[in-house]
Amino acid sequence: MSTDTRQPVVHLRSRAVSVVIDLCDGHLPSIAHWGADLGALDDAELAGVVRGAERFVTENAPDRPTRLAVLPEQSEAWLGRPGITGSRDGRDWSPLFTMEPAQVTPRTVTVDGEDTEAGLAIRIEFELSEAGLLRVRATLRNVADGVYRLDDLHLALPIPARAREVLDLAGRWGKERTPQRSPLRVGAWVREDRRGRTGPDAPLVLNVGVPGFGFATGEVWGVHVGWSGNQRHLAERLSTGDQVIGGGELLLPDEIRLARGDTYTSPWVYGAYGDGLDAQAALFHEHLRAQPGHPARDRPLTLNVWEAVYFDHDAEALMQLAEVASSLGIERFVLDDGWFRGRRHDRAGLGDWFVDEEVWPDGLQPLADRVRSLGIEFGLWFEPEMVNLDSDLAREHPDWIMQTGGRLPIPARNQQVLDLGRPEAFAAVLERMTAILTEVDIAYIKWDQNRDLVDAGSAPDGRAGVHRQTAAVYRLMDELNRRFPELEIESCSSGGSRVDLGVLERTHRVWASDCSDPLERQQINRWTAQLIPLERLGAHIASGRSHTTGRSHELSFRAATALFGHLGVEWDLRQASPAELDELREWFALYRSTRALLHTGRLIREDVVDDALQITGVVAADGSSAMYALAFLGRSDVARIGQFTLRGLDPERRYRVRPLRIGEPAGGRTVPAWFGEEDEVDGPLAGWTGVVASGAVLSHSGLQTPSSAPERAWIVEVSAVGEDGDAG
Ligand code: DGJ
Repeated sequence: MSTDTRQPVVHLRSRAVSVVIDLCDGHLPSIAHWGADLGALDDAELAGVVRGAERFVTENAPDRPTRLAVLPEQSEAWLGRPGITGSRDGRDWSPLFTMEPAQVTPRTVTVDGEDTEAGLAIRIEFELSEAGLLRVRATLRNVADGVYRLDDLHLALPIPARAREVLDLAGRWGKERTPQRSPLRVGAWVREDRRGRTGPDAPLVLNVGVPGFGFATGEVWGVHVGWSGNQRHLAERLSTGDQVIGGGELLLPDEIRLARGDTYTSPWVYGAYGDGLDAQAALFHEHLRAQPGHPARDRPLTLNVWEAVYFDHDAEALMQLAEVASSLGIERFVLDDGWFRGRRHDRAGLGDWFVDEEVWPDGLQPLADRVRSLGIEFGLWFEPEMVNLDSDLAREHPDWIMQTGGRLPIPARNQQVLDLGRPEAFAAVLERMTAILTEVDIAYIKWDQNRDLVDAGSAPDGRAGVHRQTAAVYRLMDELNRRFPELEIESCSSGGSRVDLGVLERTHRVWASDCSDPLERQQINRWTAQLIPLERLGAHIASGRSHTTGRSHELSFRAATALFGHLGVEWDLRQASPAELDELREWFALYRSTRALLHTGRLIREDVVDDALQITGVVAADGSSAMYALAFLGRSDVARIGQFTLRGLDPERRYRVRPLRIGEPAGGRTVPAWFGEEDEVDGPLAGWTGVVASGAVLSHSGLQTPSSAPERAWIVEVSAVGEDGDAG
């Protein structure tokens, strides 16, 4: 990264992205360019960038050109959503800040300012990562008497006129993160989340790109708000011709009241520019991989017992399950919901974080010991933010339940939200979790959260409390991470309803969905990976018949799908046949031998070759190997799909490309010529001899797509070879 630090224009540069920030002679900073790298620029050239971007006065408009700050001000003639909405009893609602000289480092710009008239001070922070991920946040301080009521703090990033197509995600429980596209028209495309959690339908990244942008190519600018509570993402095109994307926390009435000296800091608003969605995803992946909390160890093969036993906890049965798991090489065993007092079903027990003496008369330690003696880590499920009315906690502390209007919110999954913003409730949950984590040898928490926060007020007056709750949840996670530095936490929320960069700063994995039907998971994982790298994406092989959809699939399709994630099993393995267990052993061996590649490499998602086919791959950071899955989601209209290409390889190097054969082959009467000879022996890396070709040939010319039955997959292994065709 190189940086020109002269003011008033700052040029932050990363490998492929430039951000030119105009510090505007004491006005709020404004982004003159955010996009492709501009190369090293001298003062005159930087001034030229700013000049080129400067707006001019048009007919029937204010007599001074609009300045679009990153915190937009109406006082600078901006007619879109303003950066600050709020007032001091009806006054000071349209600030005009005067900024001091910025503090600039190679990766950051921090600039402070004040509007003395409005009695407000502001700090804006920019950061551009090594890879090119931009993030911005603002801190507002009330520096005058009287309460400043902040209704909204919104940050905006400019996008160029050629970006005219919106792509973001929607979805629902069990079908999270479904893509949707639309043209960007004059007006605003606003995605508001009022669930009090990120949601299964969160936009994840709200993108606007050049029409037709895809995974491989096409400029795209995306925004992500790193916050797990209520939030807003938006793309706005004004009739002036200006376009922005941006967002911030969505504040409920009166949630933020700043007395003199109080501050509010917005969540980080991330801006990700890339030539294609894969390039954009790489920015997020690199960002997460660089965080201090990013798991450094191999991602352990996991058995989660939810779909195996549900609430039917029986120590003997679970020990048997652990034995089977051990015979397969499972490395982490997770005891799901149902272990604590009164929790025989989902109508009682939440909040009473004591091991149930009836079901577990000797506590959990015997099971944990057995699991550990098998060389397996032990994990445990919690849902710390929730309470059932049928619990001792609710009976003793009814005022700890979030509520407003003198009534309780409509229950969801029979539960209510515990007001963790109350210090006593927070302390009680922290004490209980600490006690369990100290008594039992626990390496991992599956941290669940199973309902939306509606009517989430704090007793007794019922004031809106989602902001305070979200901050408290983060504090609780932070404190547990501090007390148990080796602990790993999974972010689970009815499956995949809490996937965002706020929670990912303090957790190690997400449970991407309660739906493990591979046909659905191909889509869910593909889009979840727009934000998170595969090593943090929990993906499990479930029993043959999906518990959420009722569809049945071959083990090979279930396994090939879950392989491209942090692999686990969600299945009563005591019911699996010997043939299934043998096949699982092969898949697990393949996972163990490829996880280093899958969990550090660069994600490649091929654009559509045929509606029936979805290709996902990972290429090693040094380009020496890769693995691709050719997943057939349906039946093609044509007998032969034609050639597919393998993107992301080094064009200069030669590679052996060979399909693997584990379990039921994907199908077809014959295989293409490039498959070569079939191995006689079985094993995780058995398959065909394949073909040798250069990265350039594979990326541009490609290979015949093999035939396949629908809902099956081919796994293709790629390794660099020397001149003689041997591994190189
Ligand atoms: C929802 C989760 O997504 C499931 O995996 C399971 O943990 C249940 N909750 C338990 O109640």
